[in-house]
Amino acid sequence: MAVIRFESHYFEEMNMKKPIKRIAVNTGGGDAPGLNAVIQSVVIAADNLGWECYGIRDGFNGILFPERYSEGGVYRLTRDRVRGIGHLGGTILGTTNKGNPLHFPVNMPDGTVREIDRSDEILTYCATHEIDALVMIGGDGSLTIADALHQKGMPVVGVPKTIDNDLSATDYTFGYDTALSIATECIDRLHTTADSHNRVIVAEIMGRHAGWIALESGLAGGADVILIPEVPMSSEEICDFLQKRHQRGKNFSIVAVAEGFSIKGEDLVTTKSELDAFGHVQLGGVGERLAKIIEKNTGFETRCTVLGHIQRGGSPTAFDRVLGTRFGVKAFELAKLGKFGHMAALRGREIVAVPLADAVGALKTVPMELYDMARQFFG
Ligand code: F6P
Repeated sequence: MAVIRFESHYFEEMNMKKPIKRIAVNTGGGDAPGLNAVIQSVVIAADNLGWECYGIRDGFNGILFPERYSEGGVYRLTRDRVRGIGHLGGTILGTTNKGNPLHFPVNMPDGTVREIDRSDEILTYCATHEIDALVMIGGDGSLTIADALHQKGMPVVGVPKTIDNDLSATDYTFGYDTALSIATECIDRLHTTADSHNRVIVAEIMGRHAGWIALESGLAGGADVILIPEVPMSSEEICDFLQKRHQRGKNFSIVAVAEGFSIKGEDLVTTKSELDAFGHVQLGGVGERLAKIIEKNTGFETRCTVLGHIQRGGSPTAFDRVLGTRFGVKAFELAKLGKFGHMAALRGREIVAVPLADAVGALKTVPMELYDMARQFFG
């Protein structure tokens, strides 16, 4: 596949002379409840100023594979088109965590797969279609791409999204509150069935390498043990803890385990050995592994429930709708001010601008003070 070398003069000239008239929005990586609220607010804010807004389908696939979309891989988002979508889960644009344009996998004739950089095709598309700025809504992977496109001359602003809440530049990402509420409700529900059957139930909770959802849903839902990636624990410690609880007369236990938790002395449990387009391992399986160990070592009947994508699906909470809306408005303002290479972030109660490069640098993990506080309530 040919790689088009991009001449960035269009954007250099544009930044100096041309007022913004047309912007495009995309959503990348895993979906998160609140994405549609962001899209809606960007489109309405842009429309209020007379700008045209376009939506790119499925990450950048709408640009890279236009032939896949009978109604166009990039389409006009009008005020009417986005009215009433703020309460809907998912993303009306579609998303993907395959095919990072900077390292795009291409099947070679000899059967091998080579990665090529297709990012210039995105810049060329924007230049030829007079798209003056891009609003990229994504997690660490998509925001890394946003930063790279900005370095290449594209005017880009970002919005931080992930249910994992692991981006260090913002206090909260939208999507987290919804995932937390769902996981809490699941833990509440697991209590009654565990109690009725005198069982241990292990709930495996998303969050990648940060234990935010597991810790806070475990705390809110009254889990008896909470296991997070930040604090590895041995299987002996976990079983001993459960045995002591049952010796105190309890007939059941709930264990909230983050998918990225490692049992001390064992490897991280993953479902696939390959990494995804953003270099992430696919986590999953630690709940089942733990359930087997607990049943074998304690004799307590044990089940595992993987909460999985239920945590990402469905309507966003009011908090995520409002946060998504505020982030969208801020992203629009950043574009209006020409503050490219920045993203919206929440600091305390304020929405601020932070450089994209800072947003993707470090993982925000659970602080030990919060874990230690929660630990007092174990058992
Ligand atoms: O990053 C969000 C997230 O839901 C993680 O919590 C989880 O590990 C991963 O995405 C699942 O990804 P996929 O949708 O590709 O299975």
